[in-house]
Amino acid sequence: MVRVLFVCLGNICRSPMAEAVFAHKVKLAGLSDRIEADSAGTGHWHIGEPAHHGTRRMLAQMQVPYNGRARVLLASDLEKFDYIVTMDDQNLSDVRRIGKGKAKVAPLLAYAPELGITEVPDPYYTGNFDETYRLADAATEGLLAAIREEHGL
Ligand code: 4NP
Repeated sequence: MVRVLFVCLGNICRSPMAEAVFAHKVKLAGLSDRIEADSAGTGHWHIGEPAHHGTRRMLAQMQVPYNGRARVLLASDLEKFDYIVTMDDQNLSDVRRIGKGKAKVAPLLAYAPELGITEVPDPYYTGNFDETYRLADAATEGLLAAIREEHGL
């Protein structure tokens, strides 16, 4: 099983969006028994909460299922997951500060270089959940292609 963990700050806006969109693509590709997705936050404020209503509304509109609850990133995640995919530079440095494991740590938007940006703006502050969806959709497409290539799937 290839395990992928999406990481943002609160685990209620960006990483759940990326997780849901990615898991949906995995399911449509018939790879749910080979690739597993989860998400976590570097901050602890929203532990146990459902995703932000903006993320849930956007996913419902696009008919992408999601019912995860927020959790905090653990040091053990760096060993448990094969890929840790971060939303912005702060998440990336926070993950790196926690330690090092087998996980390949990379920014989500590294998988969509054509977009020309490196960080997913935080809709918790911008209110722009359409943008979050658009970026997550483009980059998880690239991420899935990279994983399929790297693991011969
Ligand atoms: P996220 O957005 O990292 O995309 O889930 C945020 C959610 C909550 C907070 C900040 C960002 N907060 O400060 O509570």
